[in-house]
Amino acid sequence: MRTQIAIIGAGPAGLLLSHLLHLQGIESVVLESRSRADIESTIRAGVLEQGTMDLLNETGVGERMRSLGALHHGIELAFDGARHRIDLTELTGKAITVYPQHEVIKDLVAARLAAQGQLLFEVSDVELHGVETSRPSVIFRHGGEACSLEADFVIGCDGYHGVARPAMPEQNLRKDFQRIYPFGWFGILVESVPSSDELIYAQHERGFALVSTRSPTVQRLYFQCDPSDRTDNWSDDRIWTELHARLENRDGWKLKEGRIFQKNIIGMRSFVSTPMQAGRLFLAGDAAHIVPPTGAKGMNLAVSDVWLLARGLEQFYRKGGEELLNSYTADALKRIWRAEYFSWTMTRLLHTFADATPFEREMQRAELENIVSSRALATSLAENYVGAF
Ligand code: FAD
Ligand code: DHB
Repeated sequence: MRTQIAIIGAGPAGLLLSHLLHLQGIESVVLESRSRADIESTIRAGVLEQGTMDLLNETGVGERMRSLGALHHGIELAFDGARHRIDLTELTGKAITVYPQHEVIKDLVAARLAAQGQLLFEVSDVELHGVETSRPSVIFRHGGEACSLEADFVIGCDGYHGVARPAMPEQNLRKDFQRIYPFGWFGILVESVPSSDELIYAQHERGFALVSTRSPTVQRLYFQCDPSDRTDNWSDDRIWTELHARLENRDGWKLKEGRIFQKNIIGMRSFVSTPMQAGRLFLAGDAAHIVPPTGAKGMNLAVSDVWLLARGLEQFYRKGGEELLNSYTADALKRIWRAEYFSWTMTRLLHTFADATPFEREMQRAELENIVSSRALATSLAENYVGAF
């Protein structure tokens, strides 16, 4: 098999890249290790920045997002028993849409299949070859057969645990940056109506909590937990008691309960691997960087990486130029480091660190007070939250 671009991974990065390339007349094949049903049902991110919404709309895959997603103009920060609204639209002129990542995946898979795009699901034993030459290839197994795909470029969109990053040549020249946090997030999906019109990010001495939504009948809630804890240790009663305690406030607002139908625990890390390219291999999305979820940036960063790559590949094929491809790592890292900084700041601001001194806890509270009482600081938070493309 031969194609122009071999894409490993059908997450938001891989599928959107394939879609953007198709719109420019560039052919690609996407190789995914999981089944279509699996990628279309895995619960992950929920928040789309303005730039992500605009790109999905402009490239013809925003229809379901516009009808099923919830457009939000603000978020709330809760601490010391009170809620404080950050008016994103008034402060920045932009908004966000709460629309589940797996719905974005469904929209992109549908668009690729409608355009006769090549998506191979349930591939295994993926190996990259010759990425330092101009004829790279990927070998893999599919439907019980050994297959080989030759391409001009290989793009690793296969997430943090994928095979592309370890296959980068010159591993000795790589520089990785990492921070692992001493807590995780316990996430639940609940059958109920929304408790709030907007997302609530709550700081509490018992730990962080987040009220988000999925639809008018399904809600998404998270709370800080021990990353090595197990979901079996948490009965529904214990979860509700914890959430009520962390989200309680003095204005009479109440969290609505419902049937919990999914529980999961995720660890939290900040990670950046550089460079994001070597020869004919490029990395995009979680394959190259991870943010803790507090800033809602992960999927949005994957989108902005592939937008840059699509521009670079378009320049290569249309004009024979390689400037944009050559500057991909530098261009992408500018936004990535800002998002890393924002995600780290939000994490530090809102979580309870077991080893924090009483002085450090007061500093955390004072920082929150500063943000909600200063238009300048609230604007800075809002600008970062809605994102800059
Ligand atoms: P992935 O989505 O991880 O996709 C990689 C794909 O590659 C997968 O389908 C995988 O099966 C496949 N793959 C892996 N290895 C191979 C292989 N060897 N061969 C073939 N295929 C392979 N981000 C936000 O922007 N906003 C949020 O609100 C947000 N909330 C989050 C909440 C949670 C609980 C979590 C876990 C994450 C959240 N994120 C959020 C982060 C976001 O989900 C990720 O950043 C995003 O999925 C990255 O997309 P990706 O395409 O780079 O990687
Ligand atoms: C969701 C996830 C996040 O990481 C976040 O900051 C806000 C919302 C969500 O899954 O809805």
